[in-house]
Amino acid sequence: MTRDTKTAQPNRTPVTPAPGPRGLPLLGNLGPWQRNTAQFLLDLQRDYGDIVRMKLGPLTVHQVSDPIAVRHILVDNNQNYGRGLLYDQFKLVMGEGLLTSDGDFWRGHRRAVQPAFLKSAMGAVAPNVVQATAEMLDTWEVKARTGKPIDLLGEMLRLTLVTLSRSLFDHDVKPSTQELKQLADGVVEVMFKRGTVSELLPSWLPTARNKKIARIDEILERVVREVRDSHTVSGGGFLTSLMKQAVDPVTGEHWTDREIRDELVTIYLAGHETTAVALFWTLVSLAEHPWAKEELNSEIDQVLGGAPPNIETVDSLDYTRMVIEESLRLYPPIWAYPRGALGDDTVGGHSIPAGSNVLLSPLVSHRNPRYWENPDTFNPLRFAPAAVRKRPRMAYFPFGGGPRLCVGQLMAMLELRMIISMISQRFELSLTPDADLAYGAPLISLRPHQDVMVRLRPRTRTAGPVIAG
Ligand code: HEM
Repeated sequence: MTRDTKTAQPNRTPVTPAPGPRGLPLLGNLGPWQRNTAQFLLDLQRDYGDIVRMKLGPLTVHQVSDPIAVRHILVDNNQNYGRGLLYDQFKLVMGEGLLTSDGDFWRGHRRAVQPAFLKSAMGAVAPNVVQATAEMLDTWEVKARTGKPIDLLGEMLRLTLVTLSRSLFDHDVKPSTQELKQLADGVVEVMFKRGTVSELLPSWLPTARNKKIARIDEILERVVREVRDSHTVSGGGFLTSLMKQAVDPVTGEHWTDREIRDELVTIYLAGHETTAVALFWTLVSLAEHPWAKEELNSEIDQVLGGAPPNIETVDSLDYTRMVIEESLRLYPPIWAYPRGALGDDTVGGHSIPAGSNVLLSPLVSHRNPRYWENPDTFNPLRFAPAAVRKRPRMAYFPFGGGPRLCVGQLMAMLELRMIISMISQRFELSLTPDADLAYGAPLISLRPHQDVMVRLRPRTRTAGPVIAG
């Protein structure tokens, strides 16, 4: 199957393989990919352009960062692109959930859970966000008094997990920070540090890897069990009941326990880590740019007074939204994701053969100097409506696009605006002098490569209207 792309040059232009780096025999470009994947991908764009071909062992992978070509793959010709081999790694933990599945199975599941993520459902999410954030900020009062710095990402991970769990599953999950870290590190190691000898050993041997897999399963199974039990006791959340009622459109059968388990794990993992990472980088960007912080504080004082945000007032926080969007540009939590070409295709004059892989990287596209002036500089005004209109749409895609657009986008943007404004109402955050803000060599989400500690100082409000909460 050969389809023309909207980027396509006139038909007379010969279709050529995309340019790319020469690699070693057999290994291809695995060396630089494994050393620091994010840097390698940024370098590829700089050195070879917007459509680049690389070899990762036996796999041929095309990095696509031209906005029209990105739209071609995600939207216009999306039916030619499946999840691909690289997404299979996720199945080890997530099974066949929304993120990893394809075709009719995916369509049925997406349709079943979608109502919990529509705008109409967000009214019920907002009070949970306010409540959970207020609880966290109360603990911060105590921490601020002791003067001890806090682990910012750890705090955000716990907050987004609690918020998600209460909002979607009506369940209070209270994992320890230690457990959360074990979970995240374990998931990364099991899914991505492949090709080691320990992988070949039987699963019952108590190797370090097998112990990690067992620990991940233990934590996840406990959460799934708790959600199911809470459903039978108190009616459960909207999403739990949608899953319980869901039927397979072909067989008419209710979802199996395994289907429910995989979808719960997918939504927990896809939903809380991403939002926590986005909160982390937004707060760090504000701490690094006092002028932006001042502007944001002034807006929240004007719009909210001392009251917590709600589903309506949050829409008036324009500058806050721009700060968040700029942070998602510079530090997109899902910084790269794959597709597998089902049929032959042509993108931007280059061939994408059937069976090869495509990698879309918001991190790379969002720093493409062709569309972003001084791409490494933090500037929220890039997201003023007039500036947005001047850019091709897919120059910016932190939530993906097309039919596989992030199902939780509305929820994430609601949470982000509410939590950032509530934190800013009560605290000034400053980085400790030794804070290392490198994102290192990320594997799944764009976490900092080391814990980043911040100091808290209670903040007094500038003058502004006091709005009843
Ligand atoms: C700032 C926060 C978030 C970011 C940056 C983000 C990013 C993304 C991206 C880029 C994709 C598309 C991946 C692809 O096409 O291969 C995606 C898909 C997905 N996201 Fe999010 N996400 C966020 C928050 C959430 C939340 C809050 C939830 C749920 C509570 C969620 C659940 C999902 C699911 C289930 C998918 C798969 C959707 C499908 O293929 O049908 N995400 N997300």
